[in-house]
Order: sequence, then structure tokens, then C-alpha cells
Amino acid sequence: MPRFLSAEPDTRLLALPWDVSLADWPVEHLVALPRGISRHVVRFIRVGDSVYAAKEVVEHLAVHEYRLLSDLQRLGTPSVDPIAVISGRETPSGKPLDPILVTRHLQFSLPYRALFSSGVRHDTVLRLLDALVVLIARIHLLGFLWGDVSLSNVLFRRDAGEFAAYLVDAETGELHDRLSAGQREHELQIARTNLFGEFCDLEAGGLLDEALKPLTLVETIEARYRELWTELTAVEEFAGNELHRVESRVRRLNALGFDVAELDIETSPDGNSIRIQPKVVDAGHHSRRLLRLTGLDTEEHQARRLLNDLDTYRFRTGQWNVDQAVVAHKWLTDNFQAVVRLIPQELRAKRDLAQVFHEVLDYRWYASQREFREVPIAEAAMGYVKDVLIDLPDEDISADVAAADLGQSPVNPYDPSQGFDDDNGEQPYDPWEDDVEDEDLPAPFGGFDIDTLRAGKKG
Ligand SMILES: Nc1ncnc2c1ncn2[C@@H]1O[C@H](COP(=O)(O)OP(=O)(O)O)[C@@H](O)[C@H]1O
Ligand SMILES: [Mg+2]
Repeated sequence: MPRFLSAEPDTRLLALPWDVSLADWPVEHLVALPRGISRHVVRFIRVGDSVYAAKEVVEHLAVHEYRLLSDLQRLGTPSVDPIAVISGRETPSGKPLDPILVTRHLQFSLPYRALFSSGVRHDTVLRLLDALVVLIARIHLLGFLWGDVSLSNVLFRRDAGEFAAYLVDAETGELHDRLSAGQREHELQIARTNLFGEFCDLEAGGLLDEALKPLTLVETIEARYRELWTELTAVEEFAGNELHRVESRVRRLNALGFDVAELDIETSPDGNSIRIQPKVVDAGHHSRRLLRLTGLDTEEHQARRLLNDLDTYRFRTGQWNVDQAVVAHKWLTDNFQAVVRLIPQELRAKRDLAQVFHEVLDYRWYASQREFREVPIAEAAMGYVKDVLIDLPDEDISADVAAADLGQSPVNPYDPSQGFDDDNGEQPYDPWEDDVEDEDLPAPFGGFDIDTLRAGKKG
């Protein structure tokens, strides 16, 4: 009789064929989705309308990973959600089988190979790397030593014009009170080796932009990590009359998506010099605010964009003095849900809805610039559906499109690690990638630029 370790058991899991080795599971339980390279047998399984990832792995590692993923979830780290460990498995003839760790399949997530195989532009690669760097710094702040940083062990999700990286494989992880410099150096060394190998592999497969060199990429990751770590933790000293530098530091950290939970400020006895060090910083400033106000659970950059739209809405409708929560509720129905209602049901698997809303805002801005008028949000949403969304590949990928999305046909659709029949398949085209270049243009409509507005209100 198999044993289930689970904090929130999904009883539908009980009926699965636990007495069969995972590699031999009948396909009726499986979903073919793209995934990274793995050491273990990993399969995506469908239970009712949920999709889970199942990994067959020895008992102590399965339990260790389950616990660590639970800790990471509790600490608010972007990582996959552990569901259960099923152990005590044996075949009908009594042969013991390794336990299976079940995690929730991360919706809309893209393993890096799926991203690269659809052709990634130079600056998109840099944004992917930044997402990885932020993830590493974030877990290090929590005292989590990953032990196996690699592209195969992260999943990417679109986050407005950026990407958010999620930790997927915690098997080698360790949670400490805090990490020493030596531990972090060791982590970087492992990261260097793994990532270099993965980039060389992409290069050999012709999937890496010619201008990008594996060694440079690895060095960039390391340099960006060190930069970010310094910004997050370094002690800064300055003269007593430069107090604005305290605020600048906090603002820079907020802009990076980190919260300053506590700032250690020391003043010299004569008051002439000040030392500051951010004590504990954790992430998700904007997404927490948006969640609190609207119940929308989004990525950080999406949240920032949606909050800007909310503040703009507040200004536009003259509701500066109305309670934030009340305005947020009206914004949700008037703007967000109004757009969502215009997205045909059959196109909703293409992007998550917060991302769609963000892209509609972009679309509206371009349309307004082109037509010298303020295009209403509903009109923009309809244009976006027609001009953009319809042609995008699905990212909430279902079984039949998964293989097509990779542009190749796998030898075994349930086990991508067995390679592909034909490596020269046609690459799917993502029209949205064509526009990212202009993403950093200033915000819409001079008068409604929220940063200017905020600055104006303060000054
Ligand atoms: N919960 C999940 N959601 C989406 N993809 C997943 C999930 N769990 C695993 N994967 C995919 O499976 C791959 C292998 O999983 P991983 O835990 O890294 O196995 P291994 O320990 O054998 O390396 C990952 O690279 C990822 O692409
Ligand atoms: Mg792995």
C-alpha cells in the first residue's frame, strides 16, 4: 500500500497506478509538455483538470525536496508548489519502486529550451539572465543555498516586458540562517559550470544568437549577481548632510522589486557621518500591493504596470480622495475585467490574463501614438485580439500543441530527454517578440505619465 505525504492531499491522486514504474505509465495519465533536462524520470500527469509534475526519486531526496519546496513557498520565493510524496510503492509482484514527488505544474511556464527554440533576440536573452540573477539573489537573502543553479532547474514566465524565473529543482538545496561569502562563492562556481555547459549546448544546436558567446554570458550573470548583491546588502557611508541618500537607496531597491524590511542606520557620535545597511530585504513589493487591493495574483512587473494603470485611472476619474480599496474595486470592473471579457474564451490559453492586460496597455499606447488620440481601452483590447493575440502560440500548452511548439517532433513526447526525430523543424514565430525593442519608450500621454504625476504631486 503506498503512503502519501501531503499537507493538502488531492484525493484524485489515490487512483493513479502507483504500482507501475513512472517510465511505464499508461499515456492516458500523461500530458506531453516541454521541459528541461533531468536526471530522473519526470512526467507530467493529468488528474481531472489539474496538471502535475511527477518525479521518481529515492526516498530521502524526495522528502528533502518536498520539505524545502514547502519552506520556499512559505517564504514567498518563486518556486514550484509541492503537492505530495508517494512512497512505499511496489509492483504487483512485490518489487520495490522509488517514491514519486508530485509538484503542481507551473502554468504558463517556459523551460529555457522552449524559449530558445522559438528564436530569442539578443536583449531577450539578457532579460532572461537578469531574471535568473534576481532569483539567485533572492534565495540567497533567505539563506537558501541552491547547490545546482542551472537553466534546466529554472522555469521562466513572462512578466510584462521582463521575465520572472522560478526555482524548479530543490533537491540539492539547503536552508541556512544566512549564507557566508564562501557558500555564495561556491554556488557561483557551480552556476558557472552548469550554465556554461548549457549555453555551449545551445550554441552547438544553433539556438544561440551568433553575437552571444557562452563565456561572456556566464561572466555577465556573475557580474550582474555581484552588482545586485552589493545593492541589496552593502554598507554605505556618507556625510551627515546627505540624508537623501538613505531614500535613494530605498528607492533603488524598490525599483529592483525588493522591499526594505529594516534599514540599519548608524550615526557617528558627532553626527557628521551616517552608515546604512538594508537589514532584511524581500521581494514582491508591487505584487503584494496589487494582491491586497484587487485580489489579482501577478508577477512583479505586471503588478507595477497594473498599479500604474490603476493610479492613472484614479487620476483620470478624479478620485484622488476616494479610498484606495474602493477605487481599486471600480478599476477592476471598469478596466481589468472589461478587457478580460473581450478576450474570446478560446484564446485565453495564450497568455495569462495579467499579461494580456499589460499587452493591451502597450497596444493602446502604440495605437494612440499612431492615431494622435487617446484610444479607449475596449477598442484597444479588440484591436489587440485581432492583430496580436490570435497569432501568438499558446503558452498554457496542451498536449497536442506541445510538440509543435518546440518546432520538433520528439522521439517520445512524454520524455523530451530522449531527443528529437528531426532537429530542423520549422520554428514557431512569436510576433510579440518583434515589438519588445520599443518597450522602454516613455509612458503614454505626457499628462498621464504616472512617474511624472507622482513626481509632480510630491514637488
Ligand atoms: N512543477 C513543474 N512545473 C513545470 N515544469 C516542471 C515542474 N517540475 C519539473 N518540471 C520540468 O521537469 C524538468 C526536470 O525536473 P527536475 O526537478 O529538475 O528533475 P531532476 O532532479 O531530474 O533534474 C524541469 O527542468 C522542468 O522543466
Ligand atoms: Mg533538475
